[in-house]
Amino acid sequence: MSNLKLLFPLLFVLHAHFTQTLIQAIVFREYIGANFANVRFSDVPINPNIQIHFILSFGIDFTSGSSPKPTNGRFNVFWDSDNLGPSQVRSIKQQHPNVKVALSIGGDTVNNKAVNFTVVSIDSWVSNAVSSLTSLIKQYNLDGIDIDYEHFKAEPSVFAQCIGRVVTILKRNRVISFASIAPFDDGDVQRHYMALWRSYGGVFDYVNFQFYAYDRRTTVDQFLRYFDAQSANYNGGKVLVSFSTDSSGGLKPENGFFTACERLRSRGKLNGIFVWSADNSKANGFRYERQAQALLAKG
Ligand SMILES: *[C@@H]1O[C@H](CO)[C@@H](O)[C@H](O)[C@H]1NC(C)=O
Repeated sequence: MSNLKLLFPLLFVLHAHFTQTLIQAIVFREYIGANFANVRFSDVPINPNIQIHFILSFGIDFTSGSSPKPTNGRFNVFWDSDNLGPSQVRSIKQQHPNVKVALSIGGDTVNNKAVNFTVVSIDSWVSNAVSSLTSLIKQYNLDGIDIDYEHFKAEPSVFAQCIGRVVTILKRNRVISFASIAPFDDGDVQRHYMALWRSYGGVFDYVNFQFYAYDRRTTVDQFLRYFDAQSANYNGGKVLVSFSTDSSGGLKPENGFFTACERLRSRGKLNGIFVWSADNSKANGFRYERQAQALLAKG
């Protein structure tokens, strides 16, 4: 993993403008579309000096309709595709060359029930997932994938094989150019994602650690300790920090999130910021997104 990771920035430096490339290594990412809040890409602020990833939430391997059933890796659209469809993806990327769009798979609930990672066999799940995700990603002009399963009806080793193989194949086929995982601090969740990381960590570009799943009384010092602990768990990964604009917990912007970011930056550890979610931020005019992007653009 480390050899490849050193090579890519080097090739980019040879091709592109030096300063531009360095800042582009910093990423701002935002989940969008899970709550059907009529939010569009064009509603969200886009700072031109950093890399921006929208992450569509969610693609799920369940049937749609009133009683969703697992489909063994055949993915369907469960995000607000009326407002976030193929033409909107194409248009936001045309207007902003620094924007890329990813698909997050899994998520917490479907129709108020847990999205359970469910597999008939590893080979059949992988085969179904590769073909259905390839179609979706091409149809919607997407660039990357995010793994966000939170409930499991399969052993960690099965999850690791299924997800690791699918992401490896999608990258090798150049269907996607980047991938991330979105774990949080829960025993069962960490067992699954750390098994995936042990076998396939090298295929993932970012760790979208859900720091907003910690307690809402999290202090700046605790936050920094959590960051170090998760960076050790996902050793060698680019762990991104995060806040939420819904009612979930963690360290909020009004309680010191940006102070924690500045501390990480001074230690050379600020890889990027992600937010859950645009649907929730629309009401306050994306104030904290603007602040987060400005902080990252300071370089
Ligand atoms: C997922 O599993 C849980 C626990 O077994 C169950 O209560 C829930 O209904 C399942 N989710 C769906 C969508 O069927």
